[in-house]
Amino acid sequence: MKKLLIVVMLVAFTITLAYAADTVTYENSKGNVTFNHKAHADKLGDCKACHAGEPAKIAIDKDAAHGAACKDCHKAQSGPTKCNDCHKK
Ligand code: HEC
Ligand code: HEC
Ligand code: HEC
Repeated sequence: MKKLLIVVMLVAFTITLAYAADTVTYENSKGNVTFNHKAHADKLGDCKACHAGEPAKIAIDKDAAHGAACKDCHKAQSGPTKCNDCHKK
C-alpha cells in the first residue's frame, strides 16, 4: 500500500512538471508581460536557475520582477532590460 502511494505521488509530480504552463501572462497597467517559461527553461537548461530546490510557486510582484525574479538575471546574462522589452501594450 505504501509503495502504491509513492508511485501515485511520483506520477502526479511528473504530470505537474509536464503541464507547467508554457507561458504566463502578467497583466498590468504598464503593458502586459509574457513570460515564456518553456523557452527560459530550455535556454537556461536548469530549473534551479530560478527554482531553488524543488520547483515551487514563485511569487511575482513589481519589485521581484524588476529584481531577483526577472531583471537581475537579464542584466547578468544580456537578456532584455528595457521597459518595452517586457511590457507590451
Ligand atoms: C527563468 C526562470 C525559470 C526557470 C528556468 C524555470 N522556471 Fe518554473 N517558474 C518560474 C516562474 C517565474 C514561475 C511562476 C509563474 C507564475 O507566476 O505562475 C514558475 C512556475 C513553475 C511551476 C508552477 C508552480 C505552481 O504551482 O504555480 C512549475 C511546476 C515549474 N515552474 C517547474 C519548472 C521546471 C520543472 C523547470 C525546469 C525544466 C522550471 N520551472 C524552470 C520561473 C522559472
Ligand atoms: C536566470 C535568468 C533569467 C531569469 C530569472 C529570467 N529571464 Fe527572461 N531571459 C533570460 C535570457 C538569457 C533571455 C534572452 C534569451 C535570448 O535572447 O534568446 C531572456 C529573455 C526574455 C524575454 C524576451 C524573449 C521572449 O521570451 O520573448 C522576455 C520577455 C523575458 N525574458 C521575460 C522574463 C520575465 C518576465 C522573467 C521573470 C518572471 C524572466 N524573464 C526571468 C534569462 C532570464
Ligand atoms: C524583465 C522584464 C521587465 C522589465 C525590463 C521591466 N518590467 Fe515592469 N514589470 C515586469 C513584470 C513581470 C511586472 C508584473 C508583476 C506582477 O504582475 O505582479 C511588472 C510590473 C510593472 C509595473 C506595475 C504595474 C501595475 O499595474 O501594478 C510598472 C509600473 C512597471 N512594471 C514599470 C516598468 C518600467 C517603467 C520599466 C522600465 C524602467 C519596467 N517596468 C521594466 C517586468 C519587467
